[in-house]
Amino acid sequence: MDIGIEQISFYTAQYFLDLKTLAEARGVEPDKFYTGIGQEKMGIPPPDEDVVTMGASAAFPLKEQGALEGVEALLFATESGIDQSKAAGLFIHGLLGLPERCRVVELKQACYSTTAALRMAMGLVVMKPQSKVLVIASDIARYVLGSPGESTQGCGAVAFTVTADPRLLAIDPEAGFYADDVMDFWRPNYLSEALVDGKYSTQVYIKALKAAWKQYVGESGRSLNDFARFCYHIPFTRMAAKAHQKLAKGISDEELQTVIGESLIYSRSAGNCYAAALYVGLTSLLDNAAEDLGGKRIGLYSYGSGCVGEFFSGVVQPGYREMLLTDAHREMMASRTELTFQQYEDIYNYGIPTDGGVHTFAQYCTGPFRFAGIRGHKRIYERA
Ligand code: CAA
Repeated sequence: MDIGIEQISFYTAQYFLDLKTLAEARGVEPDKFYTGIGQEKMGIPPPDEDVVTMGASAAFPLKEQGALEGVEALLFATESGIDQSKAAGLFIHGLLGLPERCRVVELKQACYSTTAALRMAMGLVVMKPQSKVLVIASDIARYVLGSPGESTQGCGAVAFTVTADPRLLAIDPEAGFYADDVMDFWRPNYLSEALVDGKYSTQVYIKALKAAWKQYVGESGRSLNDFARFCYHIPFTRMAAKAHQKLAKGISDEELQTVIGESLIYSRSAGNCYAAALYVGLTSLLDNAAEDLGGKRIGLYSYGSGCVGEFFSGVVQPGYREMLLTDAHREMMASRTELTFQQYEDIYNYGIPTDGGVHTFAQYCTGPFRFAGIRGHKRIYERA
């Protein structure tokens, strides 16, 4: 029995800052961001969006199509948690009106947690092949203003269903994985910005990739030639390119573009989506591949700082294009609103009140759901 991803949906906030604007404000050459980092825009969530509204908005098209009927678990992956106790997925469970008979839990291990959720979902489906699990990954990448990480900020969410005999991607049983207790990127509970040892984080990303790939090859007997495409965790698109160049030494720019280029299109304009990033890349690949990938194998590398890395693979299913939400994704990306630098800083500096009082937030342009305010330390969400 094959198990894997049945359908996938992507959402990012309606606002962005062009990195040319950031470059001008910070006195940096725009090419450093456009070429050196490989990013053009960063997605910015307005004050009435958070990981709950973005996650719910990603899952909403699946709900509308009836694809969430009978879902038995909602696994929510994030590193931008909004509560130390309650799983953010429970707010989404309420907003989407999911069945009472549903296990809801939040998972954390930096950007890796979505792959852990996928593994857990597959385990549930193995035990009960007719069951369906909803995985949602939603994150806001936020660094200190003016820091090297600033240009790699972004936001976004993906929602995907995991089933037996999936119509999008059947996950192979083989995998290589690696863990190491390192401090390359972290966020103490008392900070709202991530801390990062930037250069070191890129080295650990590659070290974990090499270890995971070596193990994967040993277990599967496959080589680079067995893959039509690769999707990497995408903190910034140049990182994915560098990662693939480590595995495929001496690869030409043209070949590199062929095997990873289509997976980087959405991230180049949405920015880092942390836990969602690899799966934003997968969505971008499936939506934008010029060639029909049905029957072809793709390689996936998931990385979460701290750190855990996993290399795994899957076979794209024949007829997969019928399951895609390509038009909606493209329309969303094309209809976003550009912010001025002042608007970006104002939104960045907008602090969520912590006094337990009654606060109502101004209405910005959002997806189908918004974070309307806070009352007595309770977050209030509503249909937009
Ligand atoms: N034109 C073209 N290229 C230029 C340029 C110009 N005018 N100016 C600089 N560049 C190039 C540089 O040569 C460099 O390229 P190489 O890496 O090939 O040498 C590239 O632009 C970046 O320049 P710097 O190395 O000087 O950049 P930096 O030190 O200011 O910042 C960074 C880089 C440290 C990665 C920073 O973006 C950062 O801290 N990011 C956040 C951490 C991160 O994303 N880490 C990734 C691995 S960890 C992970 O993946 C988990 C996660 O999601 C966070």
